[in-house]
Amino acid sequence: MAGVREVILGVGGGIAAYKSCDLLRRLQERGYAVTVVPTPSSLNFVGSATWEALSGRPVTTQVWERVDEVRHISLAASADALIIAPATADLIARVAAGRADDLLTNLVLAVDVPILVVPAMHPQMWLDPATVANVQTLRSRGFVVMDPEVGRLTGEDIGPGRFPETLSIIEKFEKSLSIEKDFLGINVLVTAGGTREAIDPVRYIGNRSSGRQGAAVARAARDRGATVKLIMANSQLSHEETATLNGIEIIPVETATQMHAALEKEFPTTRLLIMSAAVADAKPSQVSDAKIKKGELKEIQLTENPDLLKSIAKMRDKQVIIAFAAETNGDLGAAREKMQAKGANILYLNDVSGGAIFGSDQTEGVILTGNGAHIPVTNTSKDTLAELLLDQALIQLG
Ligand code: CTP
Repeated sequence: MAGVREVILGVGGGIAAYKSCDLLRRLQERGYAVTVVPTPSSLNFVGSATWEALSGRPVTTQVWERVDEVRHISLAASADALIIAPATADLIARVAAGRADDLLTNLVLAVDVPILVVPAMHPQMWLDPATVANVQTLRSRGFVVMDPEVGRLTGEDIGPGRFPETLSIIEKFEKSLSIEKDFLGINVLVTAGGTREAIDPVRYIGNRSSGRQGAAVARAARDRGATVKLIMANSQLSHEETATLNGIEIIPVETATQMHAALEKEFPTTRLLIMSAAVADAKPSQVSDAKIKKGELKEIQLTENPDLLKSIAKMRDKQVIIAFAAETNGDLGAAREKMQAKGANILYLNDVSGGAIFGSDQTEGVILTGNGAHIPVTNTSKDTLAELLLDQALIQLG
């Protein structure tokens, strides 16, 4: 399930709660945003202050707190996945029975997302027929329940019940939720937004690119394991949208010249370049230092900007390049010629007739691939298009 980002980490009242602090950190490092929902009894082991400090988010345990937010419903709506770690025998029993006596169990009932349960308890409790039956109930309902590790527990006892190592929990989480990390170890460079070319200190030549498509591709590549750099020119992303880009190195630029310089620097260490920025084709031949008076603003002499893609493609070693083309007539033949002329392996032909696409969350067009295929994309979200483009890139990357 690509695109998983918002994770709720439910923490049960077992000593292994302290190990979940590390789980939280490792999840964040991998680009997940985590909200922690401890059970009230788990606060005996790790307090709310620790969770708030580590997650950077408010922590509540009951539906009676922040009632105005209807937290169990709002959290459920924003979650992409839920991990319960550690899950005690009592917590597993309450979930199996469908109880809703704290915020976490309310959430379990309210979410419609994959749930991973990571039990940790003494072996006698894990092997007790009541727990065995409860675990079976959860598995039959589609919960992924990890088997605890065998080893030494807090007392003298040894057996199945140990909280697994953090990395094996994350591996299970990503594998069982089929979040494919098929871009692991691949450096991806994305350009997004629209360049602006100054006329004077106040005015510029720009375009209507919002940067949303580039942001979507960058996010998708990050979620699939890539190391992502995003050269961003003048986006219209909201604060919330920008917050979805954590884990991505953003290189801000203003003009085509600055974007060109950033591309030249980053391209040699890139494996996949996705050129979704709308680069101004021309810039004013002279930039006035002073604001031009309206009476003098009759004519602007323009100089052509270089084609960044064409120029960068000449530096190519074994990089795969995806280009975008914004057209109002949807001419496939012309688009294929453009793709070849620019040295791209894949091109997304965007139908922008009537002002559509710019600023929208939806897109419509055709993906042209190097082997002559064209894949129509109709009324698709920019996130889904991002996944389709990465799928095509992966074929080219071999
Ligand atoms: N592009 C670029 N440098 C430019 C202009 C465009 O690298 N100076 C890139 C864009 O990022 C995009 C692709 O080229 O990936 C196609 O852009 P498009 O505007 O459709 O093509 P143009 O080359 O500007 O051709 P047209 O005359 O059709 O506008």
